[in-house]
Amino acid sequence: MGITTDLSIQIGDKILPNPVGVASGTFGYGSEYEELLDLNWVGAIYTKAVTLAPREGNEIPRIIETPSGLINSIGLANVGVDRFISEKMPFLRRLPCAIVVNVAGSTEQEYTTVLERLEAVDGIWGYEINVSCPNVKHGGLAFGTDPVQIERLTSQLRKRTSKPIIIKLTPNVTDITVIARAAENAGADALSCINTLLGMVINTATKKPVLQMKTGGLSGPAIRPVGVAMTYKVSNAVTIPVIGMGGIMNSDDAIQYLLAGASAIQIGTANFIDPQAPQNVLDGIKEYCDRENVNAVTQMKDLLI
Ligand SMILES: Cc1cc2nc3c(=O)[nH]c(=O)nc-3n(C[C@H](O)[C@H](O)[C@H](O)COP(=O)(O)O)c2cc1C
Repeated sequence: MGITTDLSIQIGDKILPNPVGVASGTFGYGSEYEELLDLNWVGAIYTKAVTLAPREGNEIPRIIETPSGLINSIGLANVGVDRFISEKMPFLRRLPCAIVVNVAGSTEQEYTTVLERLEAVDGIWGYEINVSCPNVKHGGLAFGTDPVQIERLTSQLRKRTSKPIIIKLTPNVTDITVIARAAENAGADALSCINTLLGMVINTATKKPVLQMKTGGLSGPAIRPVGVAMTYKVSNAVTIPVIGMGGIMNSDDAIQYLLAGASAIQIGTANFIDPQAPQNVLDGIKEYCDRENVNAVTQMKDLLI
């Protein structure tokens, strides 16, 4: 037997019990997975994006499999902030894990109004701000590609909460570190890295794009090397924690992110294939730390040669 590794991670002035979270949009509002996975030990649940009004999302087809991944153009389908609070929070707040609400909007005011309503509610650990959705016509990605807008939005949100603010970065930019630094300067507590990459599939027989929206966001193992590289670049550019994701299917994938500089990770597309994936990933991280005599999971970034 080796040492017992400290698995906790500090973000802002709050603690995540362990580094494994489940990614927004791939885990519903938690209750959908209640019978598939023991939710007691999950580090954090990042909820489906919550917007001010309910959204139906985009027309189907809005999801398609590709080699080693999938492309979605769901378009932020969700119940809206008021129903999220009345229908989804009662289940979520009973869980011991950190509940991080993924907030999305089309305007700065929509983001701030959603956050203000959530601030009045018990049981929320922090916020992940989705400025990186490639699947909506207005807002979303527009914020995530412009450092000036990111800085303004982050500081507006910062004024309204003392809970952790995590800005979720898009890889669909020329230099992700510019956006990362803008969020850090405006008071973000952490950065999530990365959202999906823009993708497209065309049916050559019909000569039509397969997705109704034509393009969507690519996720899954296909994007893992991109996510690892972006996590490496971002974590070297900022001093706040980075939460790495993109194509994590097993513990080895997750360990790559932790070695690249992530303090924590999220599991997304893998939940659709194997709902036990988060548990297996956490077990594998523990074994690795044990084998490598790592005292604290936050020290894993120092192991990269
Ligand atoms: C079907 C689907 C829906 C998603 N919805 C959201 C969302 O609402 N908000 C968000 O920030 N990210 C959303 N994402 C992006 C994921 O949270 C994650 O950043 C991305 O899929 C990369 O991780 P993965 O390769 O492990 O899936 C969604 C991804 C998928 C596949």
